[in-house]
Amino acid sequence: MKRDEMKPEVKSIKKSLKYRNRFHKHGAKSTHVYPFVWDYLSESKGPFCKDIDGNTFLDLAQHAASTPLGYNHPEIEEALKEYKIIDPIKMAGQDFYVKNKVPGPTELQEKIVETTEKFNLDTVFLLNSGAEAVENAIKISYDRKGKKGVSFDKSFHGRTLGALTLTQRVGKYKKRYPKIPGVEKAPFCTCRDKYNGKCKCGAIEKAKKKIEETEELSYVIIEPIQGEGGYRIPSKEFMKRIKDKTKDKNALFISDEIQAGLGRTGKFWAIEHYEVEPDVITSAKGLRVGATISNRDNFPEEKGRISTTWGAGDILASFIGYKTIEIIQKNNLVENAEERGKYLLKKLREMELEEVSNIRGKGLMAAIDLETKEKRNKVVQESFKNGLMLLGCGEKSIRFLPPLDIREREIDIAVNTLKDII
Ligand SMILES: Cc1ncc(COP(=O)(O)O)c(C=O)c1O
Repeated sequence: MKRDEMKPEVKSIKKSLKYRNRFHKHGAKSTHVYPFVWDYLSESKGPFCKDIDGNTFLDLAQHAASTPLGYNHPEIEEALKEYKIIDPIKMAGQDFYVKNKVPGPTELQEKIVETTEKFNLDTVFLLNSGAEAVENAIKISYDRKGKKGVSFDKSFHGRTLGALTLTQRVGKYKKRYPKIPGVEKAPFCTCRDKYNGKCKCGAIEKAKKKIEETEELSYVIIEPIQGEGGYRIPSKEFMKRIKDKTKDKNALFISDEIQAGLGRTGKFWAIEHYEVEPDVITSAKGLRVGATISNRDNFPEEKGRISTTWGAGDILASFIGYKTIEIIQKNNLVENAEERGKYLLKKLREMELEEVSNIRGKGLMAAIDLETKEKRNKVVQESFKNGLMLLGCGEKSIRFLPPLDIREREIDIAVNTLKDII
């Protein structure tokens, strides 16, 4: 079936429920939101995917921004024909080198640097996950004089112990775990573009004071648009002044782009919205591997101080990461994200529902608020039953993370379904 003919349709999820139970017999409880079991050999296309019961879903959750090209992108499918599956498919890439006839880790590093050279970031350290990219960003910053850092209210940086300390979202994430020392919390600005790029919420002065007063500061880590914390967008002024203060303190400014990067917001890196030059970028998700990206001078000279077995050794993931950036560049998907993002916001506003407030977004990183967390959760579950996959974030928000090549027809279907459900 052609993508333009596909539509969400759910009949029964019997097999999926059974399979979910099988998973959890030995699988630890984690973050699964609904019982969707992807049939990965099915005819899934773009934002449409099929489960093992044969249902079709319109997926605007896209694995929390991990699949910016949706399902079975034709150019990825074509490229994969060139790829020969071998074993080991993952090797110790920080200990040994690997070369294939298709792009691999070396080429992925080069491709990433094409997008970060403008910030003078010329060196990439490839890892397994986003949290590991964050861990290594703070590790390299410890080569500065200090051992302290600042992160922001409601931030999310991952679940390893270091990244979890930087995560300022409270609740279940943080329960019971010990913290790494020297992490301070600063307020985050949520003024967006409301006041011509100015910050009027008072966060600037307090955050600057926190940075100023933190002695021996080695890093400031910030999401240019907060993801898990609720799609919170700071003002230009806030970001600029935070960067300036970080520079004054001779600390590294880390832009955590694990959710917002790779073109999603209508710029390749979300930090570009603020005309701020980061010292480090962390990336993962759509890249299929984690990456800590910075200037060579910020990485340790000493051999082996940073390393990891599978880093730069996931041959297939690096290949797809490379192709993902190439396809985004070649097909102008950053521009598409900007345009379709505007269309999505327009359609969401046109719903004109009193239950919905705070409609916001940049590019295809958009969200709405419902009245309560319970209502939000109910709408996410009901949407799923109607074939629309969405995810919550923040206290009572629903986020929209479609593939970067989403079409107007698909946005129309999603918004109409959502409106009916609310
Ligand atoms: C901004 C941000 N940083 C870090 C992480 C952690 O990444 P991972 O889940 O790949 O470890 C996430 C994941 O959602 C994220 O959104």
